[in-house]
Amino acid sequence: METILVTGGAGFVGSNFILDWIEHIGTRVVSLDKLTYAGNLRNLTALRSDSRHNFVLGDIGDRAVVRKVLELYQPAAVVHFAAESHVDRSILGPEEFIRTNVEGTFRLLDEVRAWWVTLKPEQRESFRFLNVSTDEVYGSLGEGDTPFTENSQYAPNSPYAASKASADHIARAYCHTYGLPTIITNCSNNYGPYQFPEKLIPLVIGNALAGRAIPVYGDGQNVRDWIFVRDHCAALRTILRRGVPGTSYNIGGESERTNLQVIAAICNVLDEEVPAASPRRDLIEFVKDRLGHDRRYAIDCTRLRAELAWEPAESFETGLRKTVLWYLENSEWAKEARGGNYQHWISVNYEQRDTICRA
Ligand code: NAD
Ligand code: TYD
Repeated sequence: METILVTGGAGFVGSNFILDWIEHIGTRVVSLDKLTYAGNLRNLTALRSDSRHNFVLGDIGDRAVVRKVLELYQPAAVVHFAAESHVDRSILGPEEFIRTNVEGTFRLLDEVRAWWVTLKPEQRESFRFLNVSTDEVYGSLGEGDTPFTENSQYAPNSPYAASKASADHIARAYCHTYGLPTIITNCSNNYGPYQFPEKLIPLVIGNALAGRAIPVYGDGQNVRDWIFVRDHCAALRTILRRGVPGTSYNIGGESERTNLQVIAAICNVLDEEVPAASPRRDLIEFVKDRLGHDRRYAIDCTRLRAELAWEPAESFETGLRKTVLWYLENSEWAKEARGGNYQHWISVNYEQRDTICRA
């Protein structure tokens, strides 16, 4: 049985990846996660008594922990999700992003390389280090621009995007210089179960259900290319098996929507499922824009479709309905996620933000 090591396995995409892996592949998964505010072991409750999953509490930047985990579990692959992931937090406090996303990724890669050189040649060859990254490294598109391809120039605009771009460059260099079989994936905006409610879609669901204002940055016309998280996970599984080391793959849902379109779609599903006295889109409030707010992201995933025959299973409409229903059925999870320091974040990010006008 081949074991894989997943970093950041208690976060949104990482936990979905592990659940998807156990469902479709079924070999052992070891998670290494520091459990920051965004990490939540409840995301992995379904695997609590499953011997195929082991959880290790630790920091990817702690070389001794990483070394021990590699020696103990001898993984056939490392799938690296662990990161600080929220753009707004990176604007208010970039240092943690450099520490985890840049230095942490560097140390992880360096420890993996030191262990990997000790493996037998056939194990070295089949080993993979998958660096899970974002389309935000490519910067922002204008309205008529063609979507990002793997050859688009890196032009990160936020501290988050810059830290992820740095990590990508280090992963690439470790392949080029040392031969470590790294692969980089650049995915568009994910949505689905277990997403921490600081991100747009779960934040809107929570606020709309509670009758609170729905904060829209700027004019609400910024465009994101949305993908259902399990489609991202399926792409990663495919790339892990058949992707070419030293290559990068774009992953996207080919579902470009403005933020206002996304919010309207959520409100419509909620109004249908849980009727309220007035339409929930009345809760929309335009607030001061995010600093340096990227206007548009769009992904061209021709390489992944053509070379690895991957297709997303969900459209934006089917995936969004599944997501809204999941949050309705898992209100306890959402309530707990909004405990801890969440209210502090909401007051830091929103309460000092000017409201421009109501919808
Ligand atoms: P998340 O914030 O929900 O989860 C991050 C996880 O990493 C948490 O469990 C956290 O505890 C853990 N972590 C943070 N710092 C750590 C450290 N130093 N050591 C060990 N664990 C640590 O993030 P997410 O949305 O699940 O994103 C996961 C990865 O996927 C990130 O690398 C992100 O850049 C990438 N990605 C996300 C999206 C998206 O839309 N969510 C899109 C493309 C790429
Ligand atoms: P987000 O979910 O933070 O993802 P990213 O910034 O990585 O794309 O935000 C998605 C879009 O929604 C982005 O254009 C910012 C916007 N947004 C709002 O308008 N209001 C909000 O309260 C949040 C969190 C995001």
